[in-house]
Amino acid sequence: MEAILTWILNQPFYSILILVLFYLVILFFLDISQTKHTIIHNFPVVGHLRYFLEMIGPELRQYWVANDKEEKPFDRTERRWIYATAKGQNSNFGFGTTEQQYEPGYPIIKHKAFPFPEHKAFHINNDPSCIPSIKVMGEFNKRKFPFRPYSIVNISAMSYGSLSKNAVMALNKGALQAGAFHNTGEGGLSPYHLNGSDVVWQIGTGYFGARDANGRFNINVLKDKVEAHPFIRAIEIKLSQGAKPGKGGILPGVKVNSEIARIRHVEIGKDCISPNSHSEFSNVKELIDFIELIAQETGLPVGIKSAVGEIEFWDELGKEMKKQNRGPDFIAIDGGEGGTGAAPLTYADHVSLPFKIGFQRVYTTFQKLGITNRIVWIGAGKLGFPDRAVVALAMGCDLIYVAREAMLSIGCIQAEKCHTDHCPAGVATQNWWLQKGLNPTDKSVRAGKYIQGFRKELISLAHSCGHEHPAQFTGKDIEISVGMNKFITLEEQLGYSKEPISFTKMEDYAKFPTR
Ligand SMILES: Cc1cc2nc3c(=O)[nH]c(=O)nc-3n(C[C@H](O)[C@H](O)[C@H](O)COP(=O)(O)O)c2cc1C
Repeated sequence: MEAILTWILNQPFYSILILVLFYLVILFFLDISQTKHTIIHNFPVVGHLRYFLEMIGPELRQYWVANDKEEKPFDRTERRWIYATAKGQNSNFGFGTTEQQYEPGYPIIKHKAFPFPEHKAFHINNDPSCIPSIKVMGEFNKRKFPFRPYSIVNISAMSYGSLSKNAVMALNKGALQAGAFHNTGEGGLSPYHLNGSDVVWQIGTGYFGARDANGRFNINVLKDKVEAHPFIRAIEIKLSQGAKPGKGGILPGVKVNSEIARIRHVEIGKDCISPNSHSEFSNVKELIDFIELIAQETGLPVGIKSAVGEIEFWDELGKEMKKQNRGPDFIAIDGGEGGTGAAPLTYADHVSLPFKIGFQRVYTTFQKLGITNRIVWIGAGKLGFPDRAVVALAMGCDLIYVAREAMLSIGCIQAEKCHTDHCPAGVATQNWWLQKGLNPTDKSVRAGKYIQGFRKELISLAHSCGHEHPAQFTGKDIEISVGMNKFITLEEQLGYSKEPISFTKMEDYAKFPTR
């Protein structure tokens, strides 16, 4: 024995080699004796490479194989723009466009011969990136605490649980830096949402954080929390989201740690599934009653978030709102191209209309009823880029929601592992080691800079088109390629003009009522 040990110590290289060979021989016999994995059985030892390569495939494609415009949902050019903007680096591109401008659907923003002069721009709070909402949430319905968002770009619903605590903190602090509001997601208000930004509390079918001991929604629990936290500026009732409408939420058990279980009132380690429908209402009238109850009890503006499927619901909602002269203060429309922490593939790919189609249907339904302008319209679904946001604003959106783009700004590398708890960037995981690499203070600066840089480009585009505020964009400012050498205006293409907005001058929108 002593002789063997001495040999091992004297021959470390050969010892390791023998150990590795020994391991491979054992692996060989284990592989051929198992029947669970055909490839591993038929190609013992090397068959494992397939699983390893499949595992790191997205990263390999990202870094080596895919070209700049190829990857989905966000290609390298888009990600580069977000990363550079978030770091405050040069986000310009050299040599000219690499886009196929004649491709059907390609949008062109039409500049004016005489732009809005930069030197005439009024900077609210001396912040050249400030773009306040023209509309005030809750104004029409005379809520006690109306809310004018300081920023037309805001952070969309993503729960603590789906995201790590460091990611939620980074987004919350980043939102504060940029004056944006931060939507809690259906997981409810967590301690990581308390870093100072305005918060919109989302309530989904699980009523997390607003339920009693039996798991039922309780208005008093909600009211107490709203009273205790004056930075909660609005409540958003989630009917559905684009990536999994009609499905409810799924937080995989691996992500349900003791803290999340406590915040949500659920069991540790078990899949946390929100039901696919609400227990507090099951038709339009009851939905309006529920909205009004929350608004009366809290004094806050109350809105809904939904993806768009059947149009009958929206028609009925609009008619009922007109008849009763009450209802949601804001409506967030999520496109079918929207993101998620976890969703069945068919839902993500095929259920609910993409943003432009869904928004157009709902907006025009309300327009026919003459009630469009009483609502603050929010758009979501890959809108976190100036060109896409301009199109959404021209279609009638008042505010833009960004979710995955905000994740990218704090270091997400689009590994598409949100549903596994193995997010390598520490953004969408509860793994303590992985999230330790995400420094919330450093990354918050990036989230803030991304929103500010995004808004600066929006203002610049507005000025180029002769407007002072990006909300002044209309479907006449944009043309869309519809085939070989043919461009038509967005208005013609979508078949409607957005309701005129009553913009006066930037100074007039500089008042932000507090609670
Ligand atoms: C990780 C993750 C978690 C999400 N969680 C929620 C949620 O709790 N509630 C919700 O309404 N939407 C949720 N969404 C959808 C986003 O809020 C947003 O509507 C959608 O991703 C479209 O925006 P985007 O294209 O900018 O990502 C989530 C999205 C992601 C990526």
